[in-house]
Amino acid sequence: MNTLVRLWFSPALRKKAESAWHTAERNLGSHAIVTLLSSATEIHLFPFPGEAMPSQRTTDKGPVPAQKTAERGTTLTRKQLIDRLNEDLAREYQAIIAYIVYSQVLKGPEYMSIAQELQTHASEELNHALLISQQIDYLGGMPTVEPKQVKTTDNPEEMLRADLNNEVETIWNYRERVRQCEQLQEFAIAEHIREILKDEQEHLIDLATALGEDPPDPGEAAGR
Ligand SMILES: [Fe+2]
Ligand SMILES: [Fe+2]
Repeated sequence: MNTLVRLWFSPALRKKAESAWHTAERNLGSHAIVTLLSSATEIHLFPFPGEAMPSQRTTDKGPVPAQKTAERGTTLTRKQLIDRLNEDLAREYQAIIAYIVYSQVLKGPEYMSIAQELQTHASEELNHALLISQQIDYLGGMPTVEPKQVKTTDNPEEMLRADLNNEVETIWNYRERVRQCEQLQEFAIAEHIREILKDEQEHLIDLATALGEDPPDPGEAAGR
């Protein structure tokens, strides 16, 4: 019999849970539950809903923060979803400011067409900010008034690179948010974010094209 077993545990007890499992493995047959577990082909350990999993993953850029690795497969509370959406909103403000400023200060004939494009991005980011703040309000939260920091530079390529990196980060986060909203059965919010993702992907393509590159894979480029 193939059985998939999911064990729910408190992160604080993870070590004990693992050691209990190894003890159980050494004493097969001593208990009906152990017999069931021993027939399992896959065993997954999950933290209790709302609790964070300790950081498990390391990349060549160093350890990945616990929040970033923990959220896959973990259901957020509504309060945590509000906090994540507020981070998204802060990124939208950052994008609005960057696109407004960069579209005006990009100089040189080779940047005229992308400068025009960035103006269009600015108004799309404003629509995203409105949409995300509506969702935060619907969930009972207070939309943030703080943007993420905007890079200041007078080098056109650095401006475009900063925008591209921000779009990568935004897309990675919105992909996570769609999954998290669906886990909370907030399907309408997930739909709104899917619509936003279409625009963000277009922005990513526009910027990569202006830099003469292929659009990066957001998951890979974000190092996750
Ligand atoms: Fe956006
Ligand atoms: Fe964007």
